[in-house]
Amino acid sequence: MPRISYVNGRFIRHSQAAVHIEDRGYQFADAVYEVIAIVRGRLIDDELHFERLERSLREIGIEMLFSRAIFRIKIAELLRLNRLTNGSLYLQVSRGVAPRNHKIPGPMTPAVVMTVRPLREIPAEVVEQGVPVITVPDIRWKRADIKTVGLLPNVLAKEEAVQRNVYEAWQMTPDGLVTEGTSTNAWIVKDGVLITHPAASAILNGVTRLALLKIAAELDIGLDERAFSVAEAYAADEAFLSSTSAFVVPIIKIDDRQIGSGVPGPVSTALLERYKEHLWSRNA
Ligand code: PDD
Repeated sequence: MPRISYVNGRFIRHSQAAVHIEDRGYQFADAVYEVIAIVRGRLIDDELHFERLERSLREIGIEMLFSRAIFRIKIAELLRLNRLTNGSLYLQVSRGVAPRNHKIPGPMTPAVVMTVRPLREIPAEVVEQGVPVITVPDIRWKRADIKTVGLLPNVLAKEEAVQRNVYEAWQMTPDGLVTEGTSTNAWIVKDGVLITHPAASAILNGVTRLALLKIAAELDIGLDERAFSVAEAYAADEAFLSSTSAFVVPIIKIDDRQIGSGVPGPVSTALLERYKEHLWSRNA
């Protein structure tokens, strides 16, 4: 069965799925995207993803082509054509195609592409052991809250992490405050209190982050939504990261310093367990 993708109204073979070379997403990163988890054929937290997509589009002045309802119909068709029940959806909306010019050439027809792929879960033993991360300077633009495809700093930081054999790179401001990972949000736990950067222009307000905040409240875990420093992270009892693709992954080392006792802690583990229920224990 061939893999099928969606490009501007058409469902076509993935190997032939392409956009025009003058798509502004390709030339200017003038595009936004979402990654949505699919579990048992259902989109996880889709309302929050659509809300964020609409916000991203609004912030850069791209007019939404179609409603959430229409997106849902197209996504259901894409899942059906790929016979996908567990995996993820990538959805990108660019401003559209026009002769290259920085100036936005008036109202345009946005280009919409969607791909799906099977779930690639991080091996259970990796999650059980926890992972190391490094810190790197955050060299991104000042609107990390908009989910644009302009991800070069994130890509280079992730490559640094790969070269140094760690799972993720936590980006930090010149004054040593941790913003977030390259494709994940950053969390620490100190004296039983959860600490994570507030939703602001310096980070992407993760949908997983929002789900975890809700779970933390349900579990009566204290929360301090504020930026924390790298020094605080080194001295934390626990640390972990979160995203749609990684879910929740405990961190046991930051820049070669052991975090807590060097194994995933109770708060990270409790949040992960409850998050897994959030993903899997829905009716099929
Ligand atoms: N990344 N921060 C950044 C910079 C991200 O790119 C992401 C998501 C997150 C976590 O957001 P969420 O919980 O909504 O996935 C935080 C996606 C998964 C990606 O680029 O593949």
